[in-house]
Amino acid sequence: MSQRPYVIDQMISAKAIAARVEALAAEITTKFKDTDKLVVVGLLRGSFVFIADLVREIDLPVEVDFLEASSYGDSTTSSREVRILKDLRSGIEGRDVLVVEDIVDTGFTLSHVVGMLKARKPARLEVCALLDKPARREVPVQATWTGFEIPDEFVVGYGIDFAQRNRNLSYIGKVRFTD
Ligand code: IMP
Ligand code: MG
Repeated sequence: MSQRPYVIDQMISAKAIAARVEALAAEITTKFKDTDKLVVVGLLRGSFVFIADLVREIDLPVEVDFLEASSYGDSTTSSREVRILKDLRSGIEGRDVLVVEDIVDTGFTLSHVVGMLKARKPARLEVCALLDKPARREVPVQATWTGFEIPDEFVVGYGIDFAQRNRNLSYIGKVRFTD
């Protein structure tokens, strides 16, 4: 699959992403304004660019932690089985938590992760997803904040990969096969 030739068509520019990140961070700052410290949890690996930009726009004391859940493997089809490959370093009981995800697609990953983290009894837990593909949803789950709703296209860039490539693009583009 990853051997098929493809091109990437820009969908969301770096400038549009930056403006949206700033607006999301302002809403997050307002929501958690009374926190002593917000635990920002990035879901590896796709959210690493987004979380880096987002935390720098959040005007609150912040701790950063990461969680890795398995999802796709090297293909464009979703797997229903969610496994935790790397857990948080810190406990979150009684704490304010923001989960940062790259894309909510079928919803399996996010619902599993949110269920697991809520069982640890955080004081508050909200979710910020950069992208949402509502047409693909199979599990009813919704991020508190969404950067952009997108159609059912396979996208790359700004941290998001196709077969471990294209994470370093500064924009988000859609994969178009040319064969
Ligand atoms: P879900 O469990 O189906 O919601 O899958 C969510 C995860 O699948 C995301 O965190 C991404 O890592 C991956 N994913 C979903 N759509 C895309 C895409 O268009 N490009 C790259 N990865 C994707
Ligand atoms: Mg992911």
